[in-house]
Amino acid sequence: MPAPRVCVDDFEREASAVLPKAVYDYYRSGADGQSTLADNVAAYDRWSLIPRVLRDVSTVDMSVSVLGQELSMPICVAATAMQRMAHPAGETATARACKAAGTGMMLSSWATSTIEEVMSAMTLSPGRGGVLWLQLYIYKDRELTLALVRRAEQAGYRAVFVTVDTPYLGRRLDDVRNRFKMPPHLRCPPPKPNTAISTFHRKDDRSSEDFSTIFTVMSNFSTASLAFSEDDYGSDSGLAVYVANAIDPALSWDDITWLRKHTSLPLVVKGVLSGEDAVQAVNHGVSGILVSNHGARQLDGVPATLDVLEEVVGAVRGRCHVFLDGGVRRGTDVLKALALGARAVFVGRPVLWGLACQGEEGVGELLGLLKEELRLAMALSGCRSLSEVSRSLVRRVDFSSR
Ligand code: FNR
Repeated sequence: MPAPRVCVDDFEREASAVLPKAVYDYYRSGADGQSTLADNVAAYDRWSLIPRVLRDVSTVDMSVSVLGQELSMPICVAATAMQRMAHPAGETATARACKAAGTGMMLSSWATSTIEEVMSAMTLSPGRGGVLWLQLYIYKDRELTLALVRRAEQAGYRAVFVTVDTPYLGRRLDDVRNRFKMPPHLRCPPPKPNTAISTFHRKDDRSSEDFSTIFTVMSNFSTASLAFSEDDYGSDSGLAVYVANAIDPALSWDDITWLRKHTSLPLVVKGVLSGEDAVQAVNHGVSGILVSNHGARQLDGVPATLDVLEEVVGAVRGRCHVFLDGGVRRGTDVLKALALGARAVFVGRPVLWGLACQGEEGVGELLGLLKEELRLAMALSGCRSLSEVSRSLVRRVDFSSR
């Protein structure tokens, strides 16, 4: 019998053993020297928890309201592109697992399932919870951008997270080395039998036929160039070339005003790392700010998200929700971020590892693990509900005295 998966690292180890190298590299990598990638995780060790005792923690309530939606826990799923590279059911499996867990999922603009397909997977699966939000890249083609927003509104998505840290794609060295592009079996139309897809073969016993029934690319787009399905992106990372062609590097705060005018959905800016930008965001009428460095995949050398959270929370002064993503790997990480003022946190890579390990069940198991870890961390800290998680629960570790 295989050993049980008892922490996020166990999921990653197993995922790395089954995923094709180019896919694992794409999911795992940070930008350039990857110092921020390591720091996002290490930052949690710079804060210690100061528990309170004797508080009757026989029940712990983790429920939270996020952008007007009730969630069972303050742990949500971040947008990660192209989930069908991890598992044939991709984003639809993640959506079903989120519904069962009663939490929210942010769907990437670069999903390999359509906006409508993911909503219907969530709606049709059992359970009462589950919320979908759209992550939006602003394309040079504004009509196309608004068409994505309209589709999300019509399908019942509850907010738009607009990513503001990607005027160009960060330089992820392995993706350049691998000349990363969409695996052939995920391009439209499906490859003929015997097409060489070995570089993208899973290393477990899942047959390529599982995948060849899927003919999808970034399936929210109808043209080959926008669907990231072209064959030749030269010697660079295909995705970097794609972004340079399609995404607008001229974005400014005026585009937030423009987007605000064109949707009634709550708008969250994803990718803020400074108090000054947080104030700008509030002044532009956003409903939320996601403190994020894109999982350390954009500008290397920026601070770990946990280290700037307090600055952002202080600048916002309660005028909108503040969220955090980056490096969250344990329940105690979640608790520290909440104590520093996050309303909820988002996890990116861990969900991909769950998906690669075991599809919907794997994501469900992963979310269940993080939830249980948070419950235990709250109980051991003397917190019976999220309203009892306060700034006094964490203290910055003083390294000079060590
Ligand atoms: C991402 N992220 C991301 N962000 C976004 O706005 N749109 C996207 O399409 C993607 N795609 C994507 C793919 C992969 C493979 C990763 C790892 C990340 C960033 C993501 O939303 C989130 O900010 C980080 O993943 C959070 O960090 P952790 O949890 O992965 O450490």
